[in-house]
Amino acid sequence: TPPTPPGGPRCGGGAPRVRSGLVARGAYEAARTEPGESVLVTAAASAVGTLALQYAKAGGAARVVAAVSSPDKADFVRGLGADEVVLYEDADWGAPYDVILDGVGGDLLGPAVRALATGGRLVAFSSGGGTVEAYELLVRGASMIGFQMRAVAAGKPELYDRWLRELWQMRDAGTLRTAVHEEIPLGEAARAHTLIEQRRNLGKVVLVP
Ligand SMILES: NC(=O)c1ccc[n+]([C@@H]2O[C@H](COP(=O)([O-])OP(=O)(O)OC[C@H]3O[C@@H](n4cnc5c(N)ncnc54)[C@H](OP(=O)(O)O)[C@@H]3O)[C@@H](O)[C@H]2O)c1
Repeated sequence: TPPTPPGGPRCGGGAPRVRSGLVARGAYEAARTEPGESVLVTAAASAVGTLALQYAKAGGAARVVAAVSSPDKADFVRGLGADEVVLYEDADWGAPYDVILDGVGGDLLGPAVRALATGGRLVAFSSGGGTVEAYELLVRGASMIGFQMRAVAAGKPELYDRWLRELWQMRDAGTLRTAVHEEIPLGEAARAHTLIEQRRNLGKVVLVP
């Protein structure tokens, strides 16, 4: 019997919670990644990125590459299973990729689409926005797929529940490792925000009531 997730989706009758692991799972599923494919995860050291790269490894991707902004994050993402690490500023991103799980968007979206292989799929799940030229997709026969966990929770609650159960099973089996940067008392929430705004967090910043 799978464990009851703490604070499950129907807990207290409130809105289903969006968890980093569910976003990672959903983005991974949206790409319809096949075993043996290559996967690039942007913002790979983020709360969602750390789990997205582990889903890609667990799913049998041939090569999982983590993209981050600074070299000091490289060892961290390698420790979570990334086969290689690239910096956004690198001229060579190790392209082409069958799948890109993009948690950054904005100005990074264009270069990310250009890193797609023929028939590649980019899942855009960031709040960073961005614009893509349709031509860039056309010449690669590539696709861009949007993903939002809240939409799944509202439109496909059975899928949300299944992913949540499986998330905890994978965590208990050790297939997924959570990365908590720091647990910070709620009273120090401002410090938590500063940490995230400065992009210093490796994994999740947890506020403790
Ligand atoms: N679609 C959904 O349902 C859903 C749900 C939750 C979150 N999200 C999105 O998923 C992404 C990751 O969320 P998270 O909670 O994992 O984030 P997080 O832990 O706060 O990490 C965000 C990371 O994004 C990277 N980044 C790249 N460009 C950035 C920029 N211009 N400004 C700020 N950060 C930038 C930074 O890492 P580097 O310095 O290494 O680049 C930063 O540490 C966010 O875009 C968030 O909005 C989507």
